[in-house]
Amino acid sequence: MNTLTKVALGMMGRLRPKPALGDSAPSIALPPFEKHGGLPLMEAVTGRHSSRDFAPDALDLPLLSGLLWAAYGVNRPDGGRTAPSAMNAQEIDVFVAMPAGAYRYDAAAHELRLVAASDLRRVTGYQDFVDQAPMDLVYVADHKRMSLVPVGRREAYAYAAAGAIAQNAYLFAAANGLATVIRAWIDREAIAEALGLTHDQQVLLSQTVGYPVAPG
Ligand SMILES: Cc1cc2nc3c(=O)[nH]c(=O)nc-3n(C[C@H](O)[C@H](O)[C@H](O)COP(=O)(O)O)c2cc1C
Repeated sequence: MNTLTKVALGMMGRLRPKPALGDSAPSIALPPFEKHGGLPLMEAVTGRHSSRDFAPDALDLPLLSGLLWAAYGVNRPDGGRTAPSAMNAQEIDVFVAMPAGAYRYDAAAHELRLVAASDLRRVTGYQDFVDQAPMDLVYVADHKRMSLVPVGRREAYAYAAAGAIAQNAYLFAAANGLATVIRAWIDREAIAEALGLTHDQQVLLSQTVGYPVAPG
């Protein structure tokens, strides 16, 4: 769907998901991933960039597993995460929109849990590439988890936390030959409705990840 159509549908409150493509498994166990793979950090930082051209191929499951862990997985026995959060509120949930359904990343179990058995990739942003790329991440803040953070600062801190997660995903992408772009030009109401979010949950940003289009 082109961008103009999406903007028009969004204005009418009618940017909606498509039926799921394939098997909407209730959960997806994420396999072990390579913790020593990819480029070294400084080379990944050197290569970090935004890209808006994606091949449609689904990410290999071990690569998806590594991406989600790098972005916001549990990296310590005490439940600490790969990205910081104010007062360790861990308020961000990472949702993964794929052709077969939308899933929430359960970091403690390192699993994906189905939240919507529909293809809501096209709802995750106004730009046309989000429809065909294999996966769009959506960062959502759960304000219920920020009770220790002053009310007036919750939104800003949640965006800061989402930015740290997004940069982890950028660096994983750069280290592993993937393409990615973080996006703020999104229809937050449409995404919230498609994901079935509560009033405590705030859609912040989306990020597309996939294989780059092969040159030539
Ligand atoms: C908060 C934020 C919002 C952004 N929103 C979008 C967006 O909606 N669509 C898009 O294509 N790129 C978006 N970008 C990506 C920027 O356009 C990109 O980072 C910038 O042009 C610099 O390019 P680089 O990431 O390759 O260094 C966003 C970046 C940030 C930090």
